[in-house]
Amino acid sequence: MTAALPPQPLIAANHLCVKLGGVEVLHDISMSVHPGEIVTILGPNGSGKSTLLKALLGLVPAEHGAVSHAEGLRIGYVPQKLMIDRTMPLTARRFLSLPNRCSRAEGEAALARVGVAEVADRPMSGLSGGQFQRVLLARALLSRPQLLIMDEPTQGLDQPGEAAFYRLIEEVRTQTGAAVLMVSHDLHVVMSASDRVICLNGHICCEGTPRVVSSAPEYRALFGVGTQGALALYQHVHDHDHDHDHGHGHDHAHPHHHPASAHSHAKDHPHAG
Ligand SMILES: Nc1ncnc2c1ncn2[C@@H]1O[C@H](COP(=O)(O)OP(=O)(O)OP(=O)(O)O)[C@@H](O)[C@H]1O
Ligand SMILES: [Mg+2]
Repeated sequence: MTAALPPQPLIAANHLCVKLGGVEVLHDISMSVHPGEIVTILGPNGSGKSTLLKALLGLVPAEHGAVSHAEGLRIGYVPQKLMIDRTMPLTARRFLSLPNRCSRAEGEAALARVGVAEVADRPMSGLSGGQFQRVLLARALLSRPQLLIMDEPTQGLDQPGEAAFYRLIEEVRTQTGAAVLMVSHDLHVVMSASDRVICLNGHICCEGTPRVVSSAPEYRALFGVGTQGALALYQHVHDHDHDHDHGHGHDHAHPHHHPASAHSHAKDHPHAG
């Protein structure tokens, strides 16, 4: 009987609206993450990316709409800002036990999984940016999450570091089966490492599957050509009405990394929303 049921999302937002300080920061967000998926949220500063993650985690309340998740869902969360004093003499091993104690073996296995076994006894303050982010990931993995939620996990990494980190995330997904919902500003690397991308600007501008293509003029124009010669493109669906004023500014000329194909797609296909 269960085989006949459609796959249930791990987590979903249903017409979610969030107000912070009396201002509507998220408007009518409906999205979901299914088992094993890698979903990336892109959007300019202040577009509500972190707020959406927090709302999904139940850390900020919904004004309207709702968040639902699979029963007993285990989530590993890497916040955008971590309130740890990097000057504290705290080893990576100790850090992994905060706030939930893990055994020595568990900690070492987690560090090994993310490729930084050698940093166990080094102070967090002495780690490189890439090592630091890997330790954060290791800690998030300790709860054996079915869903990893990461807010800008590649902050502070250079481009090769970012690319390596996204490869690691894919590896972790393959090994553990965990789904991943992350926020990124790194359009190029994200495009190849995500199953689905959601472009957020207070509301969902567009979402879809990234596809590697050899020629995409609009994409080239906006984002340039990747160093590997690999180009990526959104195949997205427009499901909202641009004529209706939500107060979020629906101007597609806004200067953030809006997927180029959104424009051509919108021209080619009048959207249904
Ligand atoms: N506690 C708060 N009270 C009032 N407004 C808030 C609060 N927290 C966030 N905001 C506002 O909500 C909006 C969305 O913030 P959010 O942190 O979700 O953006 P973001 O997309 O994650 O940005 P960034 O790319 O800079 O991380 C911003 O305008 C922010 O100033
Ligand atoms: Mg943020």
